[in-house]
Amino acid sequence: MPEEQNDRQGESRHSFFARQQLINSAKSAFQLLAAVLKNSTLYPVSHPFVLASADKFLLKIKELLVDRKEVPFYLVGGELFFEKDSVPVDESLTMLMELFTGREIGGIIFRPGLTTDEITAFADLMNKNNAVFGAESGANELLPRSSQITHIVLHRVLVVDKKIGSVIKEGKKRAAEVFMDAIETMKEMMEAQQLDKKVNMRKMNTTVQTMVDNILENRDTYIGLTNLKMYDEYTFAHSVNTSLLASALGTFLRFEKPQVAALGLAGLLHDMGKASVPHEIINKPGKLTDAEWEVLKRHPVEGALLLADTPGVTKMAMVAAFEHHQHGERGYPVIGVRQHLFSQIISLADAYDAITAARVYYSIQTPPDQAIRILWKKRGTSFNPVLVKAFVNMMGIFPVGTVLKLNTGEVGLVMHQTRDLMRPRVLLLTRFDGSEKEKGAEVSLLEGAGGKFKRSIAGTIDPYVSRIDLKKYLT
Ligand SMILES: [Fe+2]
Ligand SMILES: [Fe+2]
Repeated sequence: MPEEQNDRQGESRHSFFARQQLINSAKSAFQLLAAVLKNSTLYPVSHPFVLASADKFLLKIKELLVDRKEVPFYLVGGELFFEKDSVPVDESLTMLMELFTGREIGGIIFRPGLTTDEITAFADLMNKNNAVFGAESGANELLPRSSQITHIVLHRVLVVDKKIGSVIKEGKKRAAEVFMDAIETMKEMMEAQQLDKKVNMRKMNTTVQTMVDNILENRDTYIGLTNLKMYDEYTFAHSVNTSLLASALGTFLRFEKPQVAALGLAGLLHDMGKASVPHEIINKPGKLTDAEWEVLKRHPVEGALLLADTPGVTKMAMVAAFEHHQHGERGYPVIGVRQHLFSQIISLADAYDAITAARVYYSIQTPPDQAIRILWKKRGTSFNPVLVKAFVNMMGIFPVGTVLKLNTGEVGLVMHQTRDLMRPRVLLLTRFDGSEKEKGAEVSLLEGAGGKFKRSIAGTIDPYVSRIDLKKYLT
């Protein structure tokens, strides 16, 4: 492995929690700004309430300025970004975001030297008529020069869209590399196992660490990659997908990093027992006979035994391999025993990938939104209802990779979730006619025009029926 890559991994490992903290800090800065603006609509800007809230906001900005030259927020398609990270937004922030986008502001940057007076003057200006902002055209500074606000810079929406767009593209490229590397590692590992050779656990752990490090930054991109079912490499891809989905859920549930990594490893190894099931059974296109089914059903036990013999494998991975089919009425190998929480997560991730992939257990391939509905119905019976709820909140009702029919007649491929599960960000494909699609613009269904949403979901399209090449868009 090149040294540069090693460095990058070390760096990103180190920054896992730092980044999470940073995103929280940025969010609270934005909340404090919202408070300043709200107070300044209720009181004159010289009122102690307004000044106190401006001071608090200034303090937070100064804190963020300690290790950066400026504090930039961007608003892209109804979402809030701090630097290149998406900031989770709740209702308390949507008003402020709408206030900005309503004034064509796509970026707001705070620079060193910012004062309380500038903040209150800015708040005052924001509460005034829209016209103030539209007046100064051409430059990316939207603030009138007369305002004497010099440490706050506003950018127009268009400029910002371009900037964030290139960051997203870069992250996607890296994600695809990490994903393909993981599949290669998995392939090597299973082949070594079949040849009775030693398994390189060090490499497995490195693979998991790299995935986990990247998931936090780019969760939707990785979830998108799980749509590429890769039939030639199915078993390996299924293990990587299960690992990605399980660790993504771990980050969503705010588990600590060692736990997320443990989930990632357990996901990769959950089907290791399949290495001892004959190929003809694994790849049989039709229904299995009772005898074949009995052989296949041994894979959790085989897997646990195999992992018990492999040095460096965690107990958790062993338990999850043993328990991952131990749910629902027809669970095996043991019924009526409660699964470990981690096994429950692996089961959910495993089921989602199996349903959307349609191999032995399901006869047709199921689009992601239908898979979500199937899991939702099984909450409380097959799966822990709390986990199913979290999974749906993470994946969305229309997960990344779902093809949507929009009320404008356009076709959109879901690329990212937003704060509204019914309004994801989509890539517009040319009008749906069943032929190859051109890559269009990426838009958020949260985008509004004249008090209404520009686009809404009118239905879904089965990507397998319409033969949309998901790989072209999701990597
Ligand atoms: Fe399995
Ligand atoms: Fe599986």
